[in-house]
Amino acid sequence: MNSETTFISRHSDKETLVRAKFLQDVLKGLSSSPKYLESKYFYDNNGDRIFQQIMRCPEYYPTDCELEILSGQTAEILHLIRERQETFDLVELGAGDALKSSYLLKYLIGQGVSFTYYPIDISSNVIESLTHRLPAEIPGLVVKGLNGEYFNMLEQAAMQSSNPKLVLFLGSNIGNMFPDDALKFCIRLRESLAPGDLLLVGFDLKKDPNTVLAAYNDKQGYTKEFNLNLLTRINRELDGDFDVSAFQHYPTYNPESGACESYLVSSRKQQVHIDGQMINFEATETIHMEISQKYTPAEADQLAKDAGFVPLESYVDSKGWFLDTIWQC
Ligand code: AVI
Repeated sequence: MNSETTFISRHSDKETLVRAKFLQDVLKGLSSSPKYLESKYFYDNNGDRIFQQIMRCPEYYPTDCELEILSGQTAEILHLIRERQETFDLVELGAGDALKSSYLLKYLIGQGVSFTYYPIDISSNVIESLTHRLPAEIPGLVVKGLNGEYFNMLEQAAMQSSNPKLVLFLGSNIGNMFPDDALKFCIRLRESLAPGDLLLVGFDLKKDPNTVLAAYNDKQGYTKEFNLNLLTRINRELDGDFDVSAFQHYPTYNPESGACESYLVSSRKQQVHIDGQMINFEATETIHMEISQKYTPAEADQLAKDAGFVPLESYVDSKGWFLDTIWQC
């Protein structure tokens, strides 16, 4: 085998493994009662594109609120961090387009701070584009992109440098975990870091329930399309035959628990085939698609403490709708 053939066969081995895991998770979720799908699978190329549209639509407030915090309170946030850590590496979990973190990166470079930025993302496209784009946009910035799962890549970052870490977990991504899972995730994160390391984490706050619900039920229908896109992805990648028009997007918000949840509801009794396996749907049967958990500031602090972090300081936007908070290991 020449090197090109070896590359192609390794590449297709990886693709086969990725497909097998996707299929296993989808069949597990759709054979459960109640049915569910994992929202991490929303993000194929089309899902990434629809998510960009969601972030630009007027009802979806979290992005603008967090941008206001990170662009308007950059100096205060970084002053507190630099009081604790002279030198550090900046690691971002789920970096995406790095729009929000770029305010922090630009400020640090402007202040002459020397650090390496390690964006971690499951998408190789994201990492490739950040590694090329950011150093051109922010001269002097050193970027070492890490493509893979958060905890494996955190280990890689620790192997590459023994500097203290400032980890960014922005965008209320933590809200896409059920509260018990968020706690387990935070404990594991703390265990992967060293004493003194810092975490800057974004939480979407509890607020007027109508405001929350509208953000997940935008008039343009982007959030509906985002959810239905996962069925289209299953059809394409897992040899499925979902009739996407036979499912209704139904978001809910419970202002007491803070759980904002999206469902797809089957509009009739129907059968769906996925990779040769049959799945039955009763009329009105649901698929749980996503949780976007909302917190109070006190609940966010409690999560820090339960996971063994020390909450240091919090920053909110002018509406009081979003919170970025710094925790220390
Ligand atoms: C990525 N995540 C924080 C978004 C959220 O608000 O839960 C995903 C999203 N789902 C529907 N709209 C946005």
